[in-house]
Amino acid sequence: MSERVLITGGAGFVGQHLSRELAEAGYLVRIADNFDPQVHGENAGLKKAGRNGDALSHAIRAVEWMRGDIRDPDFLKRALAGAHSVVHLAAVVGVGQSMYQYDRYVDHNLRGTAELLQAILKENQKPRGGIRTIVLAGSMSIYGEGLGHCSNCDQILQARRQVEQLQRQEWEPRCPRCRTELKPVATPENKPPEPASVYAFTKYGQEQLCELFASSYGLAAVSLRFFNIYGPGQSLSNPYTGVAANFAARLLRGLPPLIFEDGRQQRDLISVHDIARAARQALALARQPGARVYNLASGQTVSMGELARRLARALDSDIEPLITGQYRAGDIRHCIADISRARAELQFQPRVNLQDGLRELAEWLRREEFEGRAQTLSPLPQPIAELNAWGLTLSASGRTN
Ligand SMILES: NC(=O)c1ccc[n+]([C@@H]2O[C@H](COP(=O)([O-])OP(=O)(O)OC[C@H]3O[C@@H](n4cnc5c(N)ncnc54)[C@H](O)[C@@H]3O)[C@@H](O)[C@H]2O)c1
Ligand SMILES: [Zn+2]
Repeated sequence: MSERVLITGGAGFVGQHLSRELAEAGYLVRIADNFDPQVHGENAGLKKAGRNGDALSHAIRAVEWMRGDIRDPDFLKRALAGAHSVVHLAAVVGVGQSMYQYDRYVDHNLRGTAELLQAILKENQKPRGGIRTIVLAGSMSIYGEGLGHCSNCDQILQARRQVEQLQRQEWEPRCPRCRTELKPVATPENKPPEPASVYAFTKYGQEQLCELFASSYGLAAVSLRFFNIYGPGQSLSNPYTGVAANFAARLLRGLPPLIFEDGRQQRDLISVHDIARAARQALALARQPGARVYNLASGQTVSMGELARRLARALDSDIEPLITGQYRAGDIRHCIADISRARAELQFQPRVNLQDGLRELAEWLRREEFEGRAQTLSPLPQPIAELNAWGLTLSASGRTN
């Protein structure tokens, strides 16, 4: 008998790739998604569901689609009926936006997860109910600033930044003892979380709720802490998330990518193909009751300035990024991943290097543009204006509002 897996948020960027991955591996895949207009545009619906499916092959059509909201217990009851495992991806996603939408982020991400767990509890009380595994989309954002090494004290420390230093545009975290700039160090899973945004706080809360649930009821709960994901199918209409898509959206309109601080902040980007494969492996391998967490990243780092330039090259553009010199509330300086645990326990092996991944992204974007679907490309001024209006950016002269 095939295993039935429910993917919440399965119509999203990661969800579409994972649906295909699991359907091709023989799972019966059911998607539950409310088609949030911020991600899918207005009037999105099941018809549109196959849209990114063009890029994602026929397997998507073998998937069972259900439109509804995970905060609705009646919807969840139907969505969970007969499922054996759940991959929980549904969430509102946006670091900056979360800083002025506390209620919305807590409601979808935390209450949504609580409703999901409550509904799993009910489903498992049925005579044949049997959901044994929950795979959660965790996030690197829960770490806050990554770890840093002070060469003077020869110590690895939790990096932190003070408001006063940000006002002086001193971007690098410093050693609290000797003020030497810290050198970023790969972050392992046991680094204590320090969420720096409402979004990160809700992602950490999701993880904790799943962990509690798994240990109370003997299920397996796996949180995959995704780093920055990029690839075809990324929402082009959502200006609040997805750094690579945002940069590309501006470049395609002949506008420079906007970069906060000085552009030297480092991130660890991972292709959505590697994420989908790793999530399939996690679903298959993590069957022991109890909770586990894994970093999923490529282990290769790139600065934001470098990313913007490489993306421009991939799109045959010579537009240089615009470095704003502003700090954005909720942002961290560097976070790079230690992926040795996922390598050892999930047989995780990132395969797509940044060069090939950006080329693939560029090809997909050109196709989207050619087929007239890039109309919705967001050029981004609105979110920055919103952040300024809420006093959530800092420039050399102080808060910008
Ligand atoms: N993309 C990244 O770089 C990244 C990094 C770290 C973590 N994550 C996490 O991975 C998951 C998937 O991210 P993504 O990039 O595919 O985002 P996405 O926005 O493309 O997909 C999220 C999906 O969830 C749906 N959704 C939102 N609220 C819902 C609700 N209340 N009920 C039902 N459906 C709802 C949306 O319609 C959307 O289809 C999220 O949990 C996100 O926090 C993503
Ligand atoms: Zn020091």
